[in-house]
Amino acid sequence: SACGTKSTGEKKSEDVIKIGVNLELSGNVASFGQSALNGFTLALDEINAAGGINGKKLEIIKYDNKSDNTEAASVATRLITQDKVPIIFGAVTSGNTMAFINIAEANKVPVLTATATNPDVTVDPKTGKVREYVFRTCFIDPFQGTAMAKFATEELKVKRAAILKDNTSPYSVGLAKFFTEGFKAGGGEVVADENFTVNDQDFRSVLTKIKSLNPDFIYVPAYYEQVGQIVKQAREMGINVAFGGSDGWDSPKLIEIAGKDALKNCYITNHYSPDRDDPKVKEFVKKYKEKYGNVPDALAALGYDTGYVLAAALKNAKEITPEAIKDALKNVKDVEGVTGKISIDEQHNAKKGLVILEFVDGKQTYRKFVEP
Ligand code: PHE
Repeated sequence: SACGTKSTGEKKSEDVIKIGVNLELSGNVASFGQSALNGFTLALDEINAAGGINGKKLEIIKYDNKSDNTEAASVATRLITQDKVPIIFGAVTSGNTMAFINIAEANKVPVLTATATNPDVTVDPKTGKVREYVFRTCFIDPFQGTAMAKFATEELKVKRAAILKDNTSPYSVGLAKFFTEGFKAGGGEVVADENFTVNDQDFRSVLTKIKSLNPDFIYVPAYYEQVGQIVKQAREMGINVAFGGSDGWDSPKLIEIAGKDALKNCYITNHYSPDRDDPKVKEFVKKYKEKYGNVPDALAALGYDTGYVLAAALKNAKEITPEAIKDALKNVKDVEGVTGKISIDEQHNAKKGLVILEFVDGKQTYRKFVEP
């Protein structure tokens, strides 16, 4: 009509599916959020280029939760009440995700995290009930913690482990517990279980205490900023035993902070290795490098796979509503990803294997695959 304002090229809101994104794009785990967003965006771009979901294009609506619980909760509220998204992707960390799952559940909007590995994310520990609206595409921490315990006992042949954890992080606390159970079951002894908090920078006094207890292995289930300081300071103090870590070590920043020499004799559990001899992995690494200029880490790989898991659910959803997407997520089966084959199980988790990586010259080097 003469007074119409819509240009023909402009997309009507019915032509798009809004995808809410709640990620750590700044703050102390910013490299996690950036990588997860890059991987997720690459997948969604590919899905859109191939025609979208039944003719509808996926549109990312993203906010930075600043690696902060309070901020993650307000981002969730904004996505749900203001942007009215039918699904939220995020957050990366277990703590930041747990900070908003109650809000999502109260509003009946599904949450899909690629990376939050603490068991309590999908199952309420108080009731033992699966959280209706929360799903993930990664393995969980009992598997990750016991896999490192088994590797330490059987392959590194260590017997006296010290643990240094962030007791303000549910991820860190959970992994310390699962590692302890596994290590004791394998005949080892935990000679120290020490804590730090999220803003600590100087670990020399706790490391002095650990050193005096003479461990032959130190498990640090934490995130790269502090891990980098811990490993660096430990080596400066002459602590040369092997360190064990978790997926939270996976950041290019770790090498910058600790230096490659300090990372010698360090081993971690992780979700994927870009060096795997698999055509799907090779193709992903190539496409990712072309777009972003660096080798994708596990966060990027998980973000990418989660884009395809989301697409599978959206394709099967009866309609594009939070309720129908939630129902479709429950039935996701056999999505072939770069981090493994993804099926959502009864507990809303994905059963996948893990890799053990060793830092060689500062580079994460493939050691072994552990079956789920
Ligand atoms: N698993 C971590 C958490 O739950 C997040 C993470 C995943 C970090 C993958 C790095 C790589 O907090």
